[in-house]
Amino acid sequence: MGDSVQWGILSTGSIARSFVKGLEAVPDAEPVAVGSRTQRAADAFGDEFGIPRRHPNYAALANDPDVDVIYVATPHSLHKENSILCLKAGKPVLCEKPFTINRSEAEEIVAVAREAGLFLMEAMWTRFLPIMYQVRQWIQDGAIGEVRMVSADFGFGSTPGRTKSRLYDPALGGGALMDVGIYSLSFASMVFRRPPSRVMSMAHIGELEVDEQAGMMLGYDAGEMAMLFTSIQCGTTHWAHIMGTGGVIRIHPPYWRGTTATLVRDGKETVAERPYDGNGYNCQAEAVGRYLREGKLESDEIPLDETVAIMGTMDMIRDQIGLKFPME
Ligand SMILES: NC(=O)c1ccc[n+]([C@@H]2O[C@H](COP(=O)([O-])OP(=O)(O)OC[C@H]3O[C@@H](n4cnc5c(N)ncnc54)[C@H](OP(=O)(O)O)[C@@H]3O)[C@@H](O)[C@H]2O)c1
Repeated sequence: MGDSVQWGILSTGSIARSFVKGLEAVPDAEPVAVGSRTQRAADAFGDEFGIPRRHPNYAALANDPDVDVIYVATPHSLHKENSILCLKAGKPVLCEKPFTINRSEAEEIVAVAREAGLFLMEAMWTRFLPIMYQVRQWIQDGAIGEVRMVSADFGFGSTPGRTKSRLYDPALGGGALMDVGIYSLSFASMVFRRPPSRVMSMAHIGELEVDEQAGMMLGYDAGEMAMLFTSIQCGTTHWAHIMGTGGVIRIHPPYWRGTTATLVRDGKETVAERPYDGNGYNCQAEAVGRYLREGKLESDEIPLDETVAIMGTMDMIRDQIGLKFPME
């Protein structure tokens, strides 16, 4: 790898665009190649973002010798196939959330990366925001005593009838849980550092057979709890709270791209402001660059075993709410 991390972008959809814009705020990284299902889309994306190498399929991108690492930004149902394609071509991978459709797919990708000795990470970008480092530090320092409860929600309004997107398509892993519920599940996992031992969930499955709202209660083995909800029918509060025996941490909305948190302890409030440059996706891209330079194979912020465990919790939730995808 040279001085600058040479990124390959796999697909040309909405988040691929945001990620490439984010890279503009990373000094030692550049998008050098894009791969799409069509040459036309690859060319249009390349023209828009000044990306010189444009490939008419994902395999050509995976085999591009000028690419150091590939960002996989296809719908969830394709993450396994696309990530394995890149890893088998010898490329490290940053793969969008949710990492896969289910735990067994996640295990498959991780096994391929470990076998090949290549870097792999779920693009849970929220964990790399500066405010999340402060939050983790407060927890580690015991600023709120023993952590006992978490609450978090992420929902937005959308219109099923008019939406042809992956969001309402079971074949692409649609629904609220997979799209945005994952953020709150991942947040609870970040705080408790282990999977729950009990899960209770409820959902509304809409006409298009994906969950349009879901609520989840997670229980941990020392009695800790997390209460999470998600929706694609309505906007939610986007707050996250961590409650301990000695205080509370509030992450201001939207917590998943937050810059501000308040520590409440002994009746006193301490506010931490941690703004970031760029659109936030740059924070994870910077971390990946650092890992690659250090020769690390996975991230400290979101280790692979944790990603796999989160997919396992999603499996339990989907089982309880009756959300099945046709490819399973
Ligand atoms: N981190 C975040 O904040 C964030 C935000 C939004 C989404 N995401 C995640 O990123 C992934 C992509 O989401 P998105 O909103 O960018 O989706 P999108 O706008 O629908 O784009 C997905 C892209 O994947 C490619 N693709 C390959 N096979 C496809 C198929 N059968 N149907 C549709 N597209 C296909 C297409 O690119 P080509 O035609 O060029 O091949 C398409 O443009 C999802 O897993 C989602 O959860 C993350």
